[in-house]
Amino acid sequence: MGIAGNLTAEQLDFFNVNGYLVVESFSGSEEIKEMRDRMEELLNGFDGSYSSIFSTTNQQKHTDAYFFESAEKISFFFEEKAFGDDGCLKQPKELSINKVGHALHEIDPVFKKFSTSDKLLGMLFSLDYKKPVVIQSMYIFKQPGIGGEVTPHQDNSFLYTDPPSCTGLWLALEDATINNGCLWAIPGSHKNGLKRRFIRDENGVHFDEPSPSYDQKDFVPLEVKEGALVVIHGDLIHQSFENKSSKSRHALSLHVVETQEHEWAKDNWIRRKVDPVPLYAR
Ligand code: FE2
Repeated sequence: MGIAGNLTAEQLDFFNVNGYLVVESFSGSEEIKEMRDRMEELLNGFDGSYSSIFSTTNQQKHTDAYFFESAEKISFFFEEKAFGDDGCLKQPKELSINKVGHALHEIDPVFKKFSTSDKLLGMLFSLDYKKPVVIQSMYIFKQPGIGGEVTPHQDNSFLYTDPPSCTGLWLALEDATINNGCLWAIPGSHKNGLKRRFIRDENGVHFDEPSPSYDQKDFVPLEVKEGALVVIHGDLIHQSFENKSSKSRHALSLHVVETQEHEWAKDNWIRRKVDPVPLYAR
């Protein structure tokens, strides 16, 4: 990595061939600590009252007004397995949350600082973005013991522009390993196009096509150290498994789309009241 996050020709080559790229040490330990500490504060301030469950295996069931409104808020989503039969949490709320999203990058100063940093913008320019916006942010906990799986998907399904332009930026806030639920991806799968879309209409949300079946043998694990940034092409097939270990696997995930000569699809789940501000204009 050169000045201000710009990618080298070798890194861009790797990304173009594989559809993903691991940038080691993108964030230093201080920056990571700042974000982790801030999330601890946000969680302490969360009273655990109304929120929602997030599950990619049961996504239609759990998508509700709280989810939709989270596009412009800091909202808390529980793990599906966080609750006992009595409907009560089985462990403290800090160990029950699946993720917090989806506008940390706009509302919270600590996450905004990272999401608008020169190094991030430099990287996006080297990926050829002209007027990129961060369209959503998620702090993902992947809690020990109950951190749920994320089924195979392409990010362009959820954050569609015409033409497609989404890139996922996944920052490891802790070491991610096979044991605690690291990302897995099918190298080169971004070259096979977008398979389906996640549509929001008057009835709620649904996929427009059934899930293609994938051969688990084609996935490779992306084990990374804390501070590494994984860059994910919007058409790359990727997933992560349940965290059955005793170690959490915190990550910050940002999704970026192009606004110049690209149209945000009106039937995406995110329907903003206020247009997001392109990064270059901040
Ligand atoms: Fe994803």
